[in-house]
Amino acid sequence: MKLWGGRFRKEENRVMEDFNTSFPFDHRLYREDISGSIAHVMMLGSCGILTMDEASQIRAGLEGILRDIESGALPLDGQHEDIHTFVEVQLTERIGDLGKKLHTGRSRNDQVAVDMRMYARSQAENLIAQLKSLTDALTTKGDEYPCIMPGYTHLQRAQAVTFRYYMQAYVSMFSRDAKRISSALQILNENPLGAAALAGTTHAIDRTITTEALHFTKPVDNFLDAVSDRDYLIELMSDMSIIMMHLSRLCEELILWSSQEFRFVSIDDAYATGSSIMPQKKNPDACELVRGKTGRVYGDLTALLTTMKGLPLAYNKDMQEDKPQFFDAVDTVSACLEIMTLVISTLKVHADVMEQSVRKGFLNATEVADYLVAHGCAFRDAHAIVGRIVIFCEDQGRAIEELTLEELKGFSDLFEDSIYEYIDYQNILRKGNKREML
Ligand code: ARG
Repeated sequence: MKLWGGRFRKEENRVMEDFNTSFPFDHRLYREDISGSIAHVMMLGSCGILTMDEASQIRAGLEGILRDIESGALPLDGQHEDIHTFVEVQLTERIGDLGKKLHTGRSRNDQVAVDMRMYARSQAENLIAQLKSLTDALTTKGDEYPCIMPGYTHLQRAQAVTFRYYMQAYVSMFSRDAKRISSALQILNENPLGAAALAGTTHAIDRTITTEALHFTKPVDNFLDAVSDRDYLIELMSDMSIIMMHLSRLCEELILWSSQEFRFVSIDDAYATGSSIMPQKKNPDACELVRGKTGRVYGDLTALLTTMKGLPLAYNKDMQEDKPQFFDAVDTVSACLEIMTLVISTLKVHADVMEQSVRKGFLNATEVADYLVAHGCAFRDAHAIVGRIVIFCEDQGRAIEELTLEELKGFSDLFEDSIYEYIDYQNILRKGNKREML
């Protein structure tokens, strides 16, 4: 059954029908589609375009369809052009000819636009909640292990930090991601319904009624833009790409840290897998998959940007492609946030190994230079002196704090006994603004 058979002399070719259908993927919009239709029909009732009795009967029919879909009594399958057709055909089957009045003053173009905005809105809210669970898990894990660890630049041991502070860096990143999504939510929350196909309607509809009923902040300013705008999906997918980039960086750290070379952490057995040939292997597959799926989400974003590029106003069927792309991105990001929250909550941290790496890596060399500066040496000179100390230590396999005062004085007579207290790792973190890392 089609919504548009009237002007056609021939049946649609079956291959074309299969090619054109969006029902296999847009059926997930059934809730938004039905609530959008209820808001629309009640508005038609309030404006006197339908009688209130007609509007209420249509509403009851739509509510029945929703109930039956949710209970499983009405399966979302079969050959239908899209979710909008499915619902309207069902409605007419259930309440008779009155169902044919539902689409008064509306087009599938503004209908699909309102469905997608509402769907994007609820998915965005869900992502914000998931980001909060992840940042909670990162905070808890950091608080559990306040130990020192090496901080890196160029992946070379650089200066001491704390594990807690390291986790907080990711908390900052994912909190920014949540703010970006909140901002996208504000921008997207405008009501496109009432734009009809592209040019509004001759019926005296009232867009403020559907705006309020569907919890939008205002109606979209321009009808042409209302049915053509997919910016909000692109914006959310950009935000999701940044989330994936952050998750991928976190995963890369965990993959490295869980290797035999680092041994900083152990990923819980429940989130690792084994090898079919090498019995000793425990692989960080969850993290590798998240890192891998990052490319997929970037791909979805690039696909939609490319789909939209060059489209003339207003609606074009190209835009149906927004759905598989957006759905794939949001499903992927949501699954990745869920698994990473579990990986982090169950992570074991080997504080002893981290501390040993700090002690072996000259991570207090900068602070030795700071000591010389505090005692009157210019920083550049201090840098050169400590560089020579490091070579000396490397040749002897010793740490700077293991040198005697005599040996240190051989490099600069500014060294006093107080140097040992100054460059002790616990003390370092209590000096200057490093205190923020504790
Ligand atoms: N399935 C379509 C989509 O997702 C719905 C809108 C159809 N509009 C039209 N004029 N054929 O974009």
